[in-house]
Amino acid sequence: MNYTNEELKQKIQELKRKLDVTVVAHFYQRDEVYEMADITGDSLELAMKTKNDDKEFVVFCGVAFMGQSVKVLSPEKRVVMPKLACCSMARMIDTLYYDESVKFLEERGIPKEKILPITYINSNADVKAKVGEMGGMVCTSANAKKIITTALGEGKKILFVPDRCLGQNIANQMGLKSMVIGLDDMDPKEADIICYDGFCSVHQLFTVEDIEFYRKKYPGIKIAVHPECDPAICEKADFVGSTSQLIRYISELPKEQKVAVGTEYNLVNRLRPENTYVLSSTKPECPTMNETTLEDLYLTLKSIDEGKPINEIEVDEKTVKWARVALERMLEL
Ligand code: 13P
Ligand code: SF4
Repeated sequence: MNYTNEELKQKIQELKRKLDVTVVAHFYQRDEVYEMADITGDSLELAMKTKNDDKEFVVFCGVAFMGQSVKVLSPEKRVVMPKLACCSMARMIDTLYYDESVKFLEERGIPKEKILPITYINSNADVKAKVGEMGGMVCTSANAKKIITTALGEGKKILFVPDRCLGQNIANQMGLKSMVIGLDDMDPKEADIICYDGFCSVHQLFTVEDIEFYRKKYPGIKIAVHPECDPAICEKADFVGSTSQLIRYISELPKEQKVAVGTEYNLVNRLRPENTYVLSSTKPECPTMNETTLEDLYLTLKSIDEGKPINEIEVDEKTVKWARVALERMLEL
């Protein structure tokens, strides 16, 4: 296909006017795709806003678990994704690894009924369903602290999957004891939060040396990072928050205040033209978020127009039932 980006944008706009669709994009999408969206946000905002949307089709530009979450929350909607890109962290856990983690705790004297599982929204629907079935819930980076505070009220051990960094960072913020299965030899009975050993390959790129470099180069600079970064990074940062929280924090800084940001490149690049730096000497792009192109978006809308939608998300009934329980427990809070 030999359309320029401008031509593609025009065609996309025409199809959007014609069809009963809402285009949704996560903050990490490429700029040209992001510009085409009706709804943008972090994963929590996208889950909430699309739930209340009344169009027949949701065209979701993001990674697969996000499209699945829309389908789970609103099974009557038709959800299509220009690319079925799978977040590398979400791929680190499946239902077998989940079951093994529960078994690990049982073998160390913590019975199933004493475990409260929490899954980061960056997980596939079948893992969310397992969590829902065991009485647990979903969290995002924007509400993890609130969810964990509520969960602790039940007096159980928290099994936190799949992101060990988010689990450890929240535990550190709240003064709780955490351990990572397979990495720490702590007795899980001694820990408040037991984390699965998953992580985000993009947020692992930021290092303590990057922070030291920027602090030395620009004394007084602020360091703002996403909680998927390693605890060693978060401990040294001035601000830790989800993508929307980072945007808000940076927009409220005085113009002349320099800030180095530890999250995905597309978002950082869009933040503000001056005094904003990417906290890395390499370009921290999320390969899967970047898979979706303008051409993919156009072809997806065209396929809807032709009555043969491509990449439609399907989730089986049982998975929808329990994954929805886990997601709705979060939304209720
Ligand atoms: P947010 O919940 O902040 O949007 O983060 C999602 C994500 O994938 C970050 O890597
Ligand atoms: Fe997944 Fe990391 Fe990409 Fe976020 S940045 S979608 S956690 S791989």
